[in-house]
Amino acid sequence: MKTVLVTGGAGFIGSNFVKYMLNQHPDYKIVNVDALTYAGNLENLTDIENSLNYVFERGDIVDRSFIQNLFDTYNFDMVVNFAAESHVDRSIEDPEIFIKTNVMGTLVLLDEAKNHWQTGKDDCGYPTYRAGVRYHQVSTDEVYGALGKTGMFTETTPIAPNSPYSASKASADLVVRSYGQTFKLPITISRCSNNYGPYHFPEKLIPLMISNVVALKSLPVYGDGMQIRDWLHVKDHCSGIDTILQKGVAGEVYNIGGNNEKANLEIVNLIIENVGEMLRSGKYPIDNDGSKISKELITYVEDRLGHDRRYAIDNTKITTELGWEPSYTFEQGIVETIEWYLNNQAWLEQVKSGDYQQYYENMYSKK
Ligand code: NAD
Ligand code: TYD
Repeated sequence: MKTVLVTGGAGFIGSNFVKYMLNQHPDYKIVNVDALTYAGNLENLTDIENSLNYVFERGDIVDRSFIQNLFDTYNFDMVVNFAAESHVDRSIEDPEIFIKTNVMGTLVLLDEAKNHWQTGKDDCGYPTYRAGVRYHQVSTDEVYGALGKTGMFTETTPIAPNSPYSASKASADLVVRSYGQTFKLPITISRCSNNYGPYHFPEKLIPLMISNVVALKSLPVYGDGMQIRDWLHVKDHCSGIDTILQKGVAGEVYNIGGNNEKANLEIVNLIIENVGEMLRSGKYPIDNDGSKISKELITYVEDRLGHDRRYAIDNTKITTELGWEPSYTFEQGIVETIEWYLNNQAWLEQVKSGDYQQYYENMYSKK
């Protein structure tokens, strides 16, 4: 049995990953550590909360004595670090917490992994480690900066982050790399494109637009709406990370992406069309018959500062070297995702019940 520390497992991708791993590896024990910030919700995990191979521990990855105690208690074999402040707009408003959590938190996890896994030193003075241990850092394609009309990010594209969020993720990646180089800690890093799917917090483009269309609220499109993101279903991201844990080479970086570039406006239009059609069918438990849903809901608002124009991932390395493939087409994934939100309005209301309303009003009243 392997014991895996998953940090940030109450967030969007982390909660999907916890479930993916419990399902895929019945012989693993998953310890989910999450501070339950505004973005962490235990409602994301109700279907597995009583699973025998699952433990939840509330705490902050920046808190060294808490993390040290966890390593002492559970003797982890692997760490998969999702915990982060993840929203670009919030990082523009208040960058400090991004540096604290994303950089300092990563440092604490690396240090404790190194201290707990070290078995001795080799002839050259490098630490040696217990067999089978692995630290995996979940990163983002945003560390590469922005692309023009052509080209794709490969693992050798120079790092050039533009937002405080992406700068904090890039900084963390460099600290992870340094632990691999200097201490020979068995690390891997994955850099994934934009995810979509169930349990996505409704401050991000896709769940925000679905939530607003259902409520007949305006749909705030930044700038001209022609910025491009490369979308991947969250379950494909989870299988990509698991593939790296099983087959990835220590010290390596792997891009994860599904070759699915879309302009923001295209996504918003697709959501308007699909939500409208679904609600007009009368099959969903929602008090909106779809008759007022139209493109009139789109409102062009002031652009995000430093807004990256285009992201696109070259996934050749993970597909050819590790044999990973995405399983969802975007057309299938987006319809399933919209249906999930329509059938889970109670979840949506629950996660919006914290400081969400205030955040939303502050954010969009400025635009
Ligand atoms: P999220 O905001 O939905 O979840 C983050 C989770 O981390 C939350 O549960 C939160 O409570 C927890 N957390 C925050 N600070 C913490 C702390 N100090 N200690 C412990 N827990 C803390 O984010 P997400 O979209 O699920 O992203 C997860 C990871 O994947 C992040 O590292 C992000 O940078 C990366 N990523 C996200 C995307 C995407 O499209 N969402 C794409 C590529 C990479
Ligand atoms: P987002 O979901 O915040 O992800 P990221 O900034 O990490 O790519 O935004 C995706 C794209 O959608 C990005 O180009 C910004 C744009 N966007 C809007 O146009 N309106 C919105 O209300 C939001 C949240 C995002």
